Amino acid sequence: MSFNQSANSRFSKVLEKSQYSTADQFVKLCHVAKGNNVILGRSKSSESTRHLIYLGKVLENTAGTNLLSADLWLDVSFPHVIYITGTRGSGKSFDLGVLVEGVSKLNTETAIQNEVEPVTTFLIDTQSQFWTLGYPPNGGIPANASQLEELRQWNIPPNYISDLALFIPPGTDKITGTEQVFALSADQVPHEEWCALIGQDVYSPQGHVLGVALEALGSNFGVDDVISYIESDRNWRNVADLTRQAVAYKLNDIHKTGLFKKDGMKISDMLVPGRCNVFLLRDIRDVDKSLVTSILARQLFTIMGQHHRKKKHEAFFERDGDGRSLPSKVWLVIDEAHVVAPSDAQMPARDALVEYVKRGRDAGLSLILATQQPSAIDDRILSQVNIAFTHRLAFQSDINAAVNRVPTKALQSLKLNGSDVKEFTDMIRILDAGECFIGDQATSRAILARIRPRVTSHGGYSPV
Ligand SMILES: Nc1ncnc2c1ncn2[C@@H]1O[C@H](COP(=O)(O)OP(=O)(O)O)[C@@H](O)[C@H]1O
Ligand SMILES: [Mg+2]
Repeated sequence: MSFNQSANSRFSKVLEKSQYSTADQFVKLCHVAKGNNVILGRSKSSESTRHLIYLGKVLENTAGTNLLSADLWLDVSFPHVIYITGTRGSGKSFDLGVLVEGVSKLNTETAIQNEVEPVTTFLIDTQSQFWTLGYPPNGGIPANASQLEELRQWNIPPNYISDLALFIPPGTDKITGTEQVFALSADQVPHEEWCALIGQDVYSPQGHVLGVALEALGSNFGVDDVISYIESDRNWRNVADLTRQAVAYKLNDIHKTGLFKKDGMKISDMLVPGRCNVFLLRDIRDVDKSLVTSILARQLFTIMGQHHRKKKHEAFFERDGDGRSLPSKVWLVIDEAHVVAPSDAQMPARDALVEYVKRGRDAGLSLILATQQPSAIDDRILSQVNIAFTHRLAFQSDINAAVNRVPTKALQSLKLNGSDVKEFTDMIRILDAGECFIGDQATSRAILARIRPRVTSHGGYSPV
């Protein structure tokens, strides 16, 4: 197969010229000269056009073969860890939308997906803005009207995700009316995460009380059962009443959020290929956002790990599978990721995400993180990044942190309208919304890109 070359589905050239030029040539780049396409995220260079999602255009005039306006694709056949940074309003959430649109089941067939096997996505929507993925841009809203105009210029028809499931925490308002209220099962939360939730060390006296109670309860219990166990004097000897009271008091607070039910959500039911599951979490505490993320991440690596191990064994021994149609790939996408996995606070999702990225490769799991605080994410997660999107940043400390996590070489030289911009850090300061450097481990240097317009409505515009 090849790229869709029919005249009516070809992307427009869009960028006739660019104000950016660089003398840095590519030593290694997957460039398919026919049709001028650049493919990122591929560990071995190949001309295959399968499993590609469309990202946008190359925005630089490049010395040697000029790649300006080449179509940029991401190969999604392998698990990725993608890190998106930039200031507020630089285009991070927009990128998340572009990536999720690329791998989800869309209403009409589209050139932005080139032979893509649909992936199941789980989107941690800390600002509750991604419900719009289920709708094409609404021309009645000025921000969406300009989106439609851009789509027309790029020759990409509007679209929407046809299999979108929206989840809200108990006690929050519905936006579209189609949201389902979700709850978590208490017995899916491991000891160390309960400790993180009540702000205690695992080996502290309160951590010990929790550990004993959880072990005694085993499985199928609610938060109220943990509280009753801790409050019951006959279960305890040699533990100060005050310690137990403190734990019970904090657990009561958690119980009151209504986030836990004995029979909480079943993540395996959400694992439908091509489905996008969005968790609209704006209205709950950050620690609870982190908890939801943690439970999702743990369930995903457990279920998908088992699934892939079984598939491998079945293939080796040529046995038939159990006929379950789990997806082969899952993406966990987190907007404003510093809120759920900060490096400077013990939050429940931190260790879960570290484990998720460690086990991800064998289990078909990708992680996509967006943050405006590049230095605020746990380093054990960031050391696994293989693709970074770096948008405009202003503060030197943020720029340094972001550049440190770009998994390829920075640009050595750039000219903006003929003037030299010598430092990579200064190049990052001058980008407009929707422009970024994409650093891909498999490419010899970062590449300057213009991200395509979204085909679904972008819900993250600022109110006017
Ligand atoms: N690729 C793009 N194409 C066109 N406009 C974009 C693009 N990316 C961002 N923008 C514009 O920038 C605004 C802010 O983008 P957004 O992704 O919400 O920022 P943030 O980085 O704060 O998440 C959008 O509402 C949109 O108007
Ligand atoms: Mg955003």
